[in-house]
Amino acid sequence: MANRPKVVRTVSALRGALAPFRAAGEPVALVPTMGALHAGHLALVREARRRARRVVVSIFVNPTQFAPNEDFGSYPRRFAADLKVLSEAGADLVWAPTAAVMYPKGFATRIAPQGAALAGLEDGFRPHFFGAVATVVAKLFLQVAPDFALFGEKDYQQLRVVTQLAKDLDLPLKIVGVKTVREGDGLALSSRNVYLSAAERAAAPVLYRVLRQSAAQIRKGVPIARVLTRARAEVERAGFALDYLEARHALTMVPITSRKDGPIRLVVAARIGRTRLIDNIAV
Ligand code: PAJ
Repeated sequence: MANRPKVVRTVSALRGALAPFRAAGEPVALVPTMGALHAGHLALVREARRRARRVVVSIFVNPTQFAPNEDFGSYPRRFAADLKVLSEAGADLVWAPTAAVMYPKGFATRIAPQGAALAGLEDGFRPHFFGAVATVVAKLFLQVAPDFALFGEKDYQQLRVVTQLAKDLDLPLKIVGVKTVREGDGLALSSRNVYLSAAERAAAPVLYRVLRQSAAQIRKGVPIARVLTRARAEVERAGFALDYLEARHALTMVPITSRKDGPIRLVVAARIGRTRLIDNIAV
């Protein structure tokens, strides 16, 4: 039986629990999450274990990154089940602060990321989002002071924003991106997939299928604009309301019209019923 990871809920308990790792010179990897853990999160934990002797997983449903019309209240919370899978995955420490610990009364500081955070993708639909993510992630980095931090490519714009944050603030850690984990039919695992009805779940794999077809066409030399027009129509035909489906530079996230300006990342966000799904793929 794997050991249950130790759960800490205050910054001083966290520092106390990290001290022996530091004293022994053991590298630490951090996996930031909002819980409701699935195989995608566990791939990050596995990669963290490969990189570092000690693995810290944070579980914090960050209220500031949800807009008032979003799903903060109904976001899945499954702490006991999360602890169980983390025991099996071999995490050493679970950092689970309350909102009052993370944002004590009088909290008044916010990081305002630019560059990839203002690319007109997720930020166009969730203007509050990357400021809130950058602020909480910077806090997590300073609280845990990890040598590595693992993020999924699933949230590709977030991965770019966080990578730039660590670089710009000279944080002494390496950001590691981990490939998207998918269901057998291609749907990217997400804590929000539980919101899908059976019919919506059946339609959902179209996103990845269209991304793959589009990437293959671009590689073959079909003009990007034409590929994107077809792709958008196909996603809408499957019953989605499209927020965006675009070709972007894989590092800066600026729009790309020609293959020679790459590397290219195709990114999509679309709503079906009451659920908003995002996905992306390298070309
Ligand atoms: P959350 O949505 O819980 O995701 C935590 C991490 O798991 C993120 O780095 C995300 O990209 C990764 N992830 C999610 N689904 C994945 C999949 N199918 N394959 C691979 N990785 C996947 O992202 C957040 O939380 C928050 O914004 C956070 C960074 C914790 C800040 O609050």
